[in-house]
Amino acid sequence: MVERSAVIAALDAVIDPISGQGLVAAGLVQGLVVADDRAGFALEVDRSQVAAYAPVRDAAEAALKAIPGMSRVSVILTAEAKPGLSAAPKPRTAGLSKAALDQGRARAPVPTDRPAHVRHVLAVASGKGGVGKSTVAVNLAAALAARGLSVGILDADVYGPSLPTMLGISGQPAYEDGAIVPHHAHGLKAMSVGLLTKMDDAMIWRGPMASQAITQMLTQTRWGTVEAPLDVLVVDLPPGTGDVQLTLIQKTPLDGAVIVSTPQEVALTDARRAHTLFQKVGVPTLGLIENMSGPVFGEGGAEAEATRLGVVFLGALPLDASLREAGDAGRPLVAAQPEGEIAARFAAVATGIAGALDI
Ligand SMILES: Nc1ncnc2c1ncn2[C@@H]1O[C@H](COP(=O)(O)OP(=O)(O)OP(=O)(O)O)[C@@H](O)[C@H]1O
Ligand SMILES: [Mg+2]
Repeated sequence: MVERSAVIAALDAVIDPISGQGLVAAGLVQGLVVADDRAGFALEVDRSQVAAYAPVRDAAEAALKAIPGMSRVSVILTAEAKPGLSAAPKPRTAGLSKAALDQGRARAPVPTDRPAHVRHVLAVASGKGGVGKSTVAVNLAAALAARGLSVGILDADVYGPSLPTMLGISGQPAYEDGAIVPHHAHGLKAMSVGLLTKMDDAMIWRGPMASQAITQMLTQTRWGTVEAPLDVLVVDLPPGTGDVQLTLIQKTPLDGAVIVSTPQEVALTDARRAHTLFQKVGVPTLGLIENMSGPVFGEGGAEAEATRLGVVFLGALPLDASLREAGDAGRPLVAAQPEGEIAARFAAVATGIAGALDI
């Protein structure tokens, strides 16, 4: 059991090179979480200074790890949100389809942190972990891109960010003219919560810290420009239907959600919960996807569940080793084998989603 005061003292022993004060005294420590043997916080610095503060982040991590009894530490380095930057959203009616506008109207209150120059924000969610949500999210994004759409993917899974591995990207994102420059990989613009922290640190964020980091990645990343807006931003949400997910989906300006489930009853029960959660906040469930379909886990369960819930069944994806291998190798299978059978399945799912979003 680590004391909060010990954590604060350790952080104040690390000197901010700009002000010459300890990190806490300098006001750089945001959203500090101390729980049992874990601690985490966001080191929030001026956006022009992010690269320069990487060694300070490392020093802060080392200082926390040196506290007796501490076993897990997570420090993220983020740029300070300038007042007014995300507080005054631009009217985004131009370029929005009628369907999206209707969906926007149905939601109240409209979140103020919509990313600029992004036409549609689509969540990929699952009630249960490990059902292949991230695999579906990256391949679906690639399938949407294959339709000629400009597509971004945001890994908002604070519990287990997997986009860096699945897309083969690493390193702190660059800042340019006050905006985060997303990675470009396999025709997608990509940003992950895993790029803001060290990959081997377990994510221990809760509530405010997690949603703050995600809001920042949403609104401060240059997803699109006036001339070239992003058509779809796919958001890989953390699995589950708890408070963290509720806060995230309330704070994220979502135009629709797709829910991934395996065919088993236990996963379907959780998929139902996820649908209820989206209904509660007025985000339309665009459809249900069955993953790992086949002789091992069964098939057809998600389609029957979609019928029960009155939502669209978007398609089934087989349990297939090449999907896992491609993910492990940092290349979505849809991009690696665009002519393959699995790519065709994802193309069909993408067609369903493009239809639902009217794009
Ligand atoms: N259809 C499939 N066929 C074979 N392997 C799959 C399939 N879908 C996912 N996998 C593999 O299953 C594992 C879990 O998938 P993934 O990480 O996409 O799930 P997740 O729901 O995002 O998990 P988490 O809850 O941890 O975020 C990965 O190793 C992935 O490669
Ligand atoms: Mg995942």
